[in-house]
Amino acid sequence: TWRMDSFVENTIKDIKAKVGDGKVLLALSGGVDSSVLAALLAKAIGKQLTCVFVDHGLLRKNEGDEVEGVFGEKGNFDINFIRVNAADRYYAKLAGVEEPERKRKIIGEEFIRVFEEEAKKIGAVDFLAQGTIYPDVVESGLGGESAVIKSHHNVGGLPDFVDFKEIIEPLKTLFKDEVRKAGLELGLPEYLVFRQPFPGPGLGIRIIGEVTADKVRIVQDADYIYREEIAAAGLEKLPDQYFAALSNMRSVGVMGDERTYDYAIVLRAVETVDFMTAEASEIPFEVLQKVMSRIINEVKGVNRVMYDLTSKPPGTVELE
Ligand code: XMP
Repeated sequence: TWRMDSFVENTIKDIKAKVGDGKVLLALSGGVDSSVLAALLAKAIGKQLTCVFVDHGLLRKNEGDEVEGVFGEKGNFDINFIRVNAADRYYAKLAGVEEPERKRKIIGEEFIRVFEEEAKKIGAVDFLAQGTIYPDVVESGLGGESAVIKSHHNVGGLPDFVDFKEIIEPLKTLFKDEVRKAGLELGLPEYLVFRQPFPGPGLGIRIIGEVTADKVRIVQDADYIYREEIAAAGLEKLPDQYFAALSNMRSVGVMGDERTYDYAIVLRAVETVDFMTAEASEIPFEVLQKVMSRIINEVKGVNRVMYDLTSKPPGTVELE
């Protein structure tokens, strides 16, 4: 790891030299790239850094609290950390909206509004930090949790809603595995560093059709059980991405003596090299059965669980 040692050390030096006693603002998504960047900046300039973390209420179960646990007041870093709990605003904007691209657009625009409001409260800063990594530079890539920030910021070039002088992108030369190594080096917890790809619009595109607070609760709980059982079976490294999604379909079932009419959860797990093509993972049947029975017993509102076998193409990884 000599290379990453020197990357972290040298980059901290570079940041210090460049930033001086200036102020830096970072939109922290909680994804790998922005988290590693926050840790790096924290080590370099401490309280001169302000991180704004917009919790849009479309994160996976407990994720908002995990991000706050690492970067907030009780965390390991001496920085200014602002968590904006914007779930209600997002749900209100998404009410009645079914079309996937419109949902993406609304989620992106709401991010700009929330971030802009926070940036106004903070006032002028000298630098805006972005978690751009090398593959983003080469092609403004498809996926990745940092994509949401970038695609917003790229609306019309640079973000004109923040009063700043210059952009800094300290991770710009790194590949993903190098970003992870730097993260470990900086003392970030493994669950954050080895987080699997999570789309910027989050669970907003893992709920087919209209998003509601109750559907978010269902998909969060189902996904949490799925991840727990995949981990318990030691399969975390088999799929490249796996998650539960909420189909918008309700069907008839029976629970005890009662007829139910509830939602169907879709389990997805794929193997892929570049996310341009993918195959469904062969998750052992007994693992899927355990996940199915736990979801139906523990998650109110679900009476059916299905496994998605579709390859990409013709399917996509996400269901929207
Ligand atoms: P698809 O569904 O297009 O997914 O086969 C390929 C990869 O991209 C991620 N993905 C997104 N990431 N914003 C993102 O930041 C998005 O709107 C988005 N849509 C898909 C997906 O999670 C997978 O890793």
